Amino acid sequence: MLIHSIKELREKVKTWKAEGLSVGLVPTMGALHAGHKSLIDRSVKRCDRTVVSVFVNPIQFCPGEDLDKYPRTLEADEKLCEGSGVDIVFAPSPKEMYGEGHILSNDFLTYVIPPYFYVDKLCGKSRVGHFDGVCTVVNKLFNIVQPDYAFFGEKDRQQLIIIKKMVNDLNIPIEIVPCPIVREDSGLALSSRNKYLSDEDRVNALALSKILFNIKACYKKGVNDCKALFETAYEYLNESHSLEYLEFRDADNLEEKTTADDNTVVFIALKIGNVRLIDNIMLGEEC
Ligand code: PAJ
Repeated sequence: MLIHSIKELREKVKTWKAEGLSVGLVPTMGALHAGHKSLIDRSVKRCDRTVVSVFVNPIQFCPGEDLDKYPRTLEADEKLCEGSGVDIVFAPSPKEMYGEGHILSNDFLTYVIPPYFYVDKLCGKSRVGHFDGVCTVVNKLFNIVQPDYAFFGEKDRQQLIIIKKMVNDLNIPIEIVPCPIVREDSGLALSSRNKYLSDEDRVNALALSKILFNIKACYKKGVNDCKALFETAYEYLNESHSLEYLEFRDADNLEEKTTADDNTVVFIALKIGNVRLIDNIMLGEEC
């Protein structure tokens, strides 16, 4: 069932709650692919009812980013959800979420601001204000749907860590369920932004996962000096790549590591032409 209105959604969820049913929420920006589907499948399996939100959230895009050209494929998204056992696809308009003129400035809108230590690094460094927009919309979705569980992908691990922190700091009574990264056979992590890649870009995009897999293989062989692990990346980089960051950080609090351990995550952001791709790997997990 497709719902655009907050009021209608609330009424529906209220009837579920009255019946004592558990509710799962999968927040997305649409253009759904197998990565999103893995979150949806987990929710459908674990919860009595599942809501998938499809909302390209304007306030998490920085000036000059791809808000206007971000892929919007609601009909196909609805089909995928229907075929996966989703109960409601919630697709509000920006006006429904943010009101008339949907004011994007914090002069006029109450924002949820995550702590500076979590956002002054990795994606937050180049995308200033991005995580304010994410936390604000996720908090709104939590308040609108009031789910028992919410599912987030490890693909956006900084986002996942920040949302867990928000839920903990603000005592939000929702269990955050982390879901593993879904990759193509080539190793490329699925992303809605892969649609922007030309055939040649796609080949160059393999550098992200190759760099991460190789670092993990070196770590498993006993190399734990992060500088030495960093240097192994050069083998995979060419003139088509612009490396934004390759960093070693703690999986819980994002502190920088100089010596890698099992709880270390390697984060990478790479630009290929105009397309910015991110990926990460946890060194302690089994491959
Ligand atoms: P979006 O990029 O659509 O992603 C929605 C969810 O799908 C996120 O939790 C993301 O980590 C997960 N996901 C995307 N690709 C994945 C993959 N290859 N494997 C596993 N999970 C994957 O992230 C957002 O939207 C927005 O910031 C949002 C949280 C919806 C707030 O607007």
